Amino acid sequence: MSTRLRTVVFPVAGLGTRFLPATKVVPKEMLPLMDRPLIQWAADEAVAAGADTLVFVVNRNKRAINDHFDTAFELEQRLERGGKQSLLKIVRETLPAHVKPVFVLQPEAHGLGHAVLCARPAVGEGPFGVILPDDFILNRTGPGALAQMAAVQAREGGSVIAVEPVDWKDTARYGIVSGDEVSECLMRLSGIVEKPRPDVAPSNLGVVGRYVLDKRIFDLLERTQRGAGGEIQLTDAIATLLGEQPVYAYRFQGTRYDCGSKLGYVQATIRLALEDPEIGSELRASLPSLTQR
Ligand code: G1P
Repeated sequence: MSTRLRTVVFPVAGLGTRFLPATKVVPKEMLPLMDRPLIQWAADEAVAAGADTLVFVVNRNKRAINDHFDTAFELEQRLERGGKQSLLKIVRETLPAHVKPVFVLQPEAHGLGHAVLCARPAVGEGPFGVILPDDFILNRTGPGALAQMAAVQAREGGSVIAVEPVDWKDTARYGIVSGDEVSECLMRLSGIVEKPRPDVAPSNLGVVGRYVLDKRIFDLLERTQRGAGGEIQLTDAIATLLGEQPVYAYRFQGTRYDCGSKLGYVQATIRLALEDPEIGSELRASLPSLTQR
């Protein structure tokens, strides 16, 4: 039952309109949280979960993501000549040597389900992960969210989806799940629905952007019709999958920041900055002056 999670898919072809004009030229996944772009945090989480193949589902405006994981020849040469070894290491290690990036084109945006389906030819054997880099999850007390989920999948089999309680008024922003409790952090799903209004939502347990999926999902995505928002929804294919095999909702350890929103993005930035050994204490000392009116 236990197969290592080797491939992680990053659907990154979205527009990022909430951050315009910053995202007019720069992909939203390249916006930095402190000194690392969002996509780097996501890639690090995947590698820490054991992945050696990272599949980025991009469009023609996302060239910068490709460049970020490529060799920066001139920069490296300059740092090397200047004896800047620690910076050189940072630049070279955007991906460890054993990890292979693969870029797949999603020519038109037909939704998250469609993006995941585009990755199919690049996904190897066994279950695979999906990370939505907008959902930044920080866990300082143990393994990252995807590593936790890979461990659950290795133990239980089936597929595993990350969830957390959301405000009832916000159910229409999430996939919402229902099911039966297996243990404190684990539930076997009996239903999942994309972006229900609060009055029809089966619970307030919202899906956040981490999935470990059985490859059967691809066949189901092939047959999935357009759903909420006129898009091919991953949620709808998962709703079919759970009729065939176990799908678990997992309440991960860690804090999620919705970096697709300005508030979440700034909160994550402040948290990381406050914890930063270089600037943390000075920032803390300057907070009163920043909050003065
Ligand atoms: C997607 C999924 C949704 C999930 C959310 C998590 O929605 O479709 O089920 O709850 O990610 O961030 P999106 O935020 O892309 O609209």
